[in-house]
Amino acid sequence: MNRRYRHTIIAGNWKMNKTAKETKEFAEEMKKLWTVRPKWCDTVICVPACNISTATKAFKELRIAVGAENVYFEPNGAFTGEIAADMLSDLNVKYVIVGHSERRQYFGETDQTVNKKVHAVLNAGMSPIICVGESLEEREKGITDELIALQVKSALSGVSAEQVRRCVIAYEPVWAIGTGRTATAEQAGEVCKNIRSTIRTLYGARVSRSITIQYGGSMNEKNAKELLAQPDIDGGLIGGAALVPEKFLAIINAANQDQE
Ligand code: 13P
Repeated sequence: MNRRYRHTIIAGNWKMNKTAKETKEFAEEMKKLWTVRPKWCDTVICVPACNISTATKAFKELRIAVGAENVYFEPNGAFTGEIAADMLSDLNVKYVIVGHSERRQYFGETDQTVNKKVHAVLNAGMSPIICVGESLEEREKGITDELIALQVKSALSGVSAEQVRRCVIAYEPVWAIGTGRTATAEQAGEVCKNIRSTIRTLYGARVSRSITIQYGGSMNEKNAKELLAQPDIDGGLIGGAALVPEKFLAIINAANQDQE
């Protein structure tokens, strides 16, 4: 983390988990446990679309921003089952996850659709959390840096320097998601550093210094502190551990520690 230049953001990604009732129960539990407000980090939870309204009400007092897990890039029309960016911003959504590897893998999302979604989110006044990451096979082939640079450049194609300040990048190695196999702090820190240098090439030093880059992939209450100690890791995108109030809170507390 480097709080001098950028926000630390701890975001949960609930994926396809929790009903409206369970969302309210989570909020009640958080209220009981959460005694000290985080001074140094922003908190977000991205929930299934059907629970956005419930979550917005339930998390209001906790000051946890509500995010969405996906969006469609067209503004309206005959796209059965899809949700447009304006519909999300209308519900007070602040962040939208775009290009999560599960969407790339199971729902045919490509670098091109990710780019369109990034524009849709920005045009609706929200912040995209843009996920990038390599598979185990790609890592073993030694093409991680190239591949991630390409994913970042494609996602940001046509995005202005003004708009990019609202973007969050999440580095999520596919092999670390839901597997309990976390990237080492050094591995994660190295890729996040390279992402920042790609942003520097595209937008210059000032913008690259101010952009929040998260790590995601089996981040938990035990490894968060070490990962967040890396200078280029400015937060986390957390799956499994964000479903459990005690664990999510422990990660927030790790991000909220005083920094020399
Ligand atoms: P896990 O924390 O469960 O590995 O999930 C990470 C993730 O995919 C967040 O978007």
